[in-house]
Amino acid sequence: MFNYTTLDTSKIEFAEIAPASELPNGERLFLEIEGRAIVIFNIAGQLFAIGDVCTHDDGPLGDGDLEEYNIVCPRHGAEFDVRTGKVMQMPAVVDIPAYPVKVEGGMIKIGLPRE
Ligand code: FES
Repeated sequence: MFNYTTLDTSKIEFAEIAPASELPNGERLFLEIEGRAIVIFNIAGQLFAIGDVCTHDDGPLGDGDLEEYNIVCPRHGAEFDVRTGKVMQMPAVVDIPAYPVKVEGGMIKIGLPRE
C-alpha cells in the first residue's frame, strides 16, 4: 500500500471531513470517503489517518488498541505505525495506506490522491 503522506502536495486533493472539535485528544473518527474506509486518530494533539482495513485478513484496525503510535489489529495482533502505515508486526506483511491530515479554519481535512 502507499504512504500518501509522502506524496507531492500537487498530487493530493484535501477533502473537508469534520470540525476539529469532534476529534479531541485520545479519540478516533471513522469515515468512508470515495469508497475507502479510513480512521483518523488524535494522539496527543496530532492527527494521523490510515486505512481502516488490516492487510492480513481485512480486520477492522480502528477498533484495535493503540500502543504509542502502533495500532494493534484486534483479530490476530498485527501492528501498523499510524504515522506511516508501515507494518510493524506479523502476521500482516503488507503496509496499509497512510493519508496526510491537516486542520484549516477549524476543520479537519484529509488528503487523497488525485485520480
Ligand atoms: S486480520 Fe489483522 S492481524 Fe489478521
